[in-house]
Amino acid sequence: MFEQDIVNKFKNIPTPFYYYDVEVLKQTLQQVKAESDKYNFNVHYALKANANNEILNIIKTFNFGADCVSGNEVKKAVECGYASEHIVFAGVGKSDAEINFALDHNIFCFNCESLQELEVINELANAKNKTANVALRINPNVNANTHKYITTGLEENKFGINLWELESVVNALTGLKNIQLIGLHFHIGSQITDLSSFKSLCMRVNEIQSWFVSHKIKFENINVGGGLGVDYHEPDKNLIADFAAYFKLFNDFLELRPGQKVHFELGRAIVAQCGTLISKVLYIKKGVNTNFAILDAGMTELMRPALYQAYHKIENISKENKVNRQKTIDKNLKPNIQYPISNIFKYDVVGPICESSDCFGKAVNLPETFRGDLIAIRTAGAYGEVMSSGYNLRDRVKNFYSDKL
Ligand code: LLP
Repeated sequence: MFEQDIVNKFKNIPTPFYYYDVEVLKQTLQQVKAESDKYNFNVHYALKANANNEILNIIKTFNFGADCVSGNEVKKAVECGYASEHIVFAGVGKSDAEINFALDHNIFCFNCESLQELEVINELANAKNKTANVALRINPNVNANTHKYITTGLEENKFGINLWELESVVNALTGLKNIQLIGLHFHIGSQITDLSSFKSLCMRVNEIQSWFVSHKIKFENINVGGGLGVDYHEPDKNLIADFAAYFKLFNDFLELRPGQKVHFELGRAIVAQCGTLISKVLYIKKGVNTNFAILDAGMTELMRPALYQAYHKIENISKENKVNRQKTIDKNLKPNIQYPISNIFKYDVVGPICESSDCFGKAVNLPETFRGDLIAIRTAGAYGEVMSSGYNLRDRVKNFYSDKL
């Protein structure tokens, strides 16, 4: 919840905009660092979650690597000063230009998703007289128990090399002289809150490693991807994900061979809670069964609710502060009388875009809301601004940081 002085500052900024709490980001990063260091785990920040320069610069100061899924993300990571030897590059559809760019920068590892991709990387590396470090991205067929659009580790998904293809890939690799196989890579999905999915992943990784060992193939690196979820419902209660339990689980269940390094690619759990979309109520409209609070932000600024029916906590921060003030005054005047804090109404909170799916939440409980009230849409630091669009020729959404407000 925002303090009154921050809300006052928001009042002077044209909405909509993203607000990033730098302190929350730093506290989160400190936790990630402390808990991953316990086991010498290597964390690569997944740029796809939020690639703002300010965010990347802060994350870099904690000496994390970068996980990229496009040539431009690799470029951004390099420009922001992430060391090439800590950059991993995944994605089912890497173009020749993107592969060449990554080869030129001698990145740590390509996470390869198919035999055809391996052949192309081999050919392009050969043309440059280089050897490309590669990890095989294996589809472990493990259910992440998350939204179907952000599940990636099932056989029905397009990602990774399937288990039944391993034999042929391994046979083909012997002929690919410009490929150095340095590891295995997995990623089962995103917004995973049930840690038992990660335990299942560990078990599968152990089985797959044993298969490779029986084929006399050893790896220096095991990359288990990202996916740790955050609390969208109670952001203030659980501002920082349980990194201690997360990393401990991998330490407990992954069977490592001597000298093996473990890598993680965390995005959401690092940046989600530091970001909030701040918007203003343009109109209140009475519908047949509901009230509509029509905001000046829409799916163009935050697409997750429209795309995945994702839940984000919605707060009327103008109201919240007025209500708190009112409560204090009433208490002071009549200390023995329990005053109702406010009348709560139900609103469908929607945006201005010409799409019915442009809705941030249905039947949202809010104190009575008026034109001009500020609305905070919480936990929007990951996959929020970075997925914004110019649909309806909307202006590009702006951002502000707590340390420069
Ligand atoms: N590694 C790979 C190979 C990935 O595909 C992803 C995310 C990550 C790491 C980072 O996952 P995270 O730690 O952030 O869960 N737009 C969706 C999320 C898509 C995730 C795509 N891949 C959303 O808004 O929920």
